[in-house]
Amino acid sequence: MPLAALHDLYVEQLRYLHSAEDQLVKALPQMAEGAAAPELRASFERHARVTEQQAERLGLILGGLGVKVTGTKCKAMAALIAEARDVLDSATHPAVLDLALIAAALRIEHYEIVGYECIRTYAKRLGFKDAAALLAQTLEEEEEAEERLSLLAQSVILFEAEAARSSETRKRKASSGRTKEKSARKRS
Ligand SMILES: [Fe+2]
Repeated sequence: MPLAALHDLYVEQLRYLHSAEDQLVKALPQMAEGAAAPELRASFERHARVTEQQAERLGLILGGLGVKVTGTKCKAMAALIAEARDVLDSATHPAVLDLALIAAALRIEHYEIVGYECIRTYAKRLGFKDAAALLAQTLEEEEEAEERLSLLAQSVILFEAEAARSSETRKRKASSGRTKEKSARKRS
């Protein structure tokens, strides 16, 4: 579509974001299923439900402009989701899998945040106040999701560090126990 005016760009970006959300509605349940930590699974499941509403909001805005939502595919989101699927196939350790899934989801969130910041600005500039308010609501949800994922990443890392420390302490105790046994046997 030729982009001769800001309105054209606004419509095009709305359609790309609608395609992005639509792809995510299908991908997030798979990411939830693959997550090891129950908190991460719950977070993906919750965001899948929120994403459905975000897609509906975009459909509503496009419908108000008399534009069809079909016919545009967001290739960037398809690539980001493909990377998240690769993680599900390749990570074997549960904490590494969760951290990799969080990293993939954070990339997705950042992509969406930039997209919504742009179209909210265009909506304001074009005088579409209701649309700007709807887009601001979605932007807030994406920022919340980004924050929640970052906090989850920190807790997975802390849990892993704690687990590694406990296992190291257990190994050290077991090895010092064996040394004491050996010296006791030598003495007897
Ligand atoms: Fe979204």
